[in-house]
Amino acid sequence: MTATKGLEGIVATTSSISSIIDGTLTYRGINIDDLAENATFEEVVYLLWYGKLPTQSELDQLHKDLEANSAVPEQVIDQIKSYPADTNPMAALRSTVSSLALFDKEANDMSPEANIRKAIRLQAQTSTIVAAFARIREGKEPISPKSGVSIAENFLYMLTGETPEPIAVEAMDKALVLHADHELNASTFAARVTVATLSDIYSGVTSAIGALKGPLHGGANEAVMVMLEEIGTPDQVEAYVKKKLDNKEKLMGFGHRVYKNGDPRAKHLMKMSKELGKITNNMNWYNMSVQIEELVTNLKGLKPNVDFYSASVYTSLKIPRDLFTPIFAISRMSGWTAHILEQYENNRLIRPRAEYTGPSSQAYVPIEKR
Ligand code: SDX
Repeated sequence: MTATKGLEGIVATTSSISSIIDGTLTYRGINIDDLAENATFEEVVYLLWYGKLPTQSELDQLHKDLEANSAVPEQVIDQIKSYPADTNPMAALRSTVSSLALFDKEANDMSPEANIRKAIRLQAQTSTIVAAFARIREGKEPISPKSGVSIAENFLYMLTGETPEPIAVEAMDKALVLHADHELNASTFAARVTVATLSDIYSGVTSAIGALKGPLHGGANEAVMVMLEEIGTPDQVEAYVKKKLDNKEKLMGFGHRVYKNGDPRAKHLMKMSKELGKITNNMNWYNMSVQIEELVTNLKGLKPNVDFYSASVYTSLKIPRDLFTPIFAISRMSGWTAHILEQYENNRLIRPRAEYTGPSSQAYVPIEKR
C-alpha cells in the first residue's frame, strides 16, 4: 500500500453537482461564466440543491423559505454575546453553527424532507450569524434580517444597519455565486466524510467550516489582504514578492491543486475589483494585485485563485478582512449542504487506508523498565 500525499488525483466519489474538468467550472452543467453574468445567488442555491434552475414560482418560494428561517434563536445570539471580544470569526461561526443543532427540533430527523428543511435553515442563518457576531464584538446590538431582499443585500444591511448601494449588493451577490460550490474541495470532502457515518447535517457543515478556516483553503482570502497591507504601496511589490519566493514562502491567493492554467473565477473577481476600485476612488489594492499577479505568473508560473481578487473586492465594500472567510462560508454553505444531501442519497462510509510507516515487532515494556 503506497500513500498518495494529499490524495492528489484520487477520485473519491461520484457527484453530479459541480465539475472542474479541463479548467472549466460548471454547476450542474452550467458554465460559471454564464452564472456569474446572469444568475442570482438564490438561483444558484436552488440549482445546487435541486439540480435545475428554478421557475419564477419556485424561486419565489425559496426566497420566502429563506426569509422565514433567517432569524437565529435568541439563545444562540446570547451565546455569541458570551464569546471573548478577540474571538476569530471563523471559530465563532464554527461554534455557533454547531449550536444551531441544539435548538433545531429536527436535528436528528434524517428524512430527506427534514434534511432539505435544515439546509434551508442553515443557508438562511449563516449570514445572520456572521453579521450578528461582527456587530456584537463591536459592542453593538445585532440587526434582525429584513424581509423582501436577497441574502447578499440582507448581509450587508445586517452588518451596517444601512441600506447598501446597489453596486455593493451586485458585487456581493456575484461573489456568493462564484464561491458556491467547487467539486471535492477540502471542506466539502470534510462534510461528506462526516455525514457518510450517517451523522447529521449540522455535524457535516461544522466539519466543513473547520476545514475552510485554514489558510491553505478559505482562509487564504484574509491572508491575501494581510499581504496587500504589508506591501502597502505599488513600489514595494517587486521586492516583497521576490523576497517571499526566494525564501520559498507561499504567496497567498496563488496556485491550486487542480487548476494549473488559472482559476476561471478569478477573472470575474478581478473585473469587480477594478470596478469597485474606480467607484470608491481607491485603485491601490487593485493596482497592487495586478502587479503581484504579473510578477508571480512570470517568476513562478502560478496563477491567482478565487481568493486573490476577492480580498480587494471585499475591502472596497468596507468589509473587515477577518470576515472574508466567513463570507466564503456563507456562500459555500449552499455547496456543502448540496453535497451532504447527495451523500445521504447514495451513502457508503468513507474509510480509506494509511500506509503504515511506524516501527514493527515492538514488545510492551513495563513502566518501571522504560
Ligand atoms: C481554495 O480545492 C479547491 O477547490 C479549493 C477552492 C474552493 O473553491 O474550494 O478553490 C478554494 O482553497 C483556493 C486555494 C487557496 N489557498 C491559497 O491561496 C494558499 C496558497 N496556495 C497554496 O499553498 C497551494 O497552491 C494550494 C494549497 C492551493 C495547492 O497546493 P498543492 O496542490 O498541495 O501544491 P503544493 O503546495 O504541493 O505546491 C506545488 C509546488 C511547490 O513548488 P515545488 O516545491 O514543487 O518547487 O508549487 C509551489 C510549491 O511551493 N506553490 C507555490 C504556491 N502554490 C504552490 N509557491 C508559492 N506560492 C504559492 N501560492
